[in-house]
Amino acid sequence: MKQLYIIANWKENAVKPTEWFDEVQSEKFKVQSSEEKTTIVCPPFSLLQEVKHYIDEKQLPIKLGSQDISQFAKGAHTGEVSGETLQELVQYVIIGHSERREMGETNEIVNEKTERAIENNLIPIICVSNKEQTHSLRLQDKTIQQLIAFEPLEAIGTGQPEDPQSANNVAKKIKNTLGNVLVLYGGSVNAENVNEFTKQEHINGVLVGGASLDAKSFSGIIQKA
Ligand code: PGA
Repeated sequence: MKQLYIIANWKENAVKPTEWFDEVQSEKFKVQSSEEKTTIVCPPFSLLQEVKHYIDEKQLPIKLGSQDISQFAKGAHTGEVSGETLQELVQYVIIGHSERREMGETNEIVNEKTERAIENNLIPIICVSNKEQTHSLRLQDKTIQQLIAFEPLEAIGTGQPEDPQSANNVAKKIKNTLGNVLVLYGGSVNAENVNEFTKQEHINGVLVGGASLDAKSFSGIIQKA
């Protein structure tokens, strides 16, 4: 059975962690998270500590990720969050989301952030929307796990997901280009369509924005993936 990653990206939304987790019901996570399915939640930085505490206390089989990482190792960079401090809290980090690229994040910055993640033993989830971004990635040691999320711009937050077969074709091409990576799909994934994506040969999971904010719909996605 192939490995699947189900990732919640809460973006800048003030989700109430305790209510969200209580609603998803810890039991559901326990039943549904098998070795092949890894569930990762990526809250805003300010909620990481609280979510980590909850996951640890209830011993939930959920991993924690951040939505970004500083391109710098340390120093005088007001507002930036270093890999060194993130390492204490998370195992995964989203890098190069299209919403950050829109704010000026370049391919070079994405590569530097990926380096900082790997140096701090964090697994990067690198987002790409097109061929040019894929080709520009300078991946690190190919033996280290790195996840690539293919997110076509026109599918993000629009309710109009990419056609699953064409997403599969892109995932195959990304693997051919980059080698040893797992490719996820992101863009308007919900409980109704998730399986159309996860059943594709080259797609190893989904990155979910809007539908991850509602605990019930995210729990539906975990079950149906
Ligand atoms: P969406 O967002 O699920 O709301 O389309 C996906 C993403 O931005 O990662």
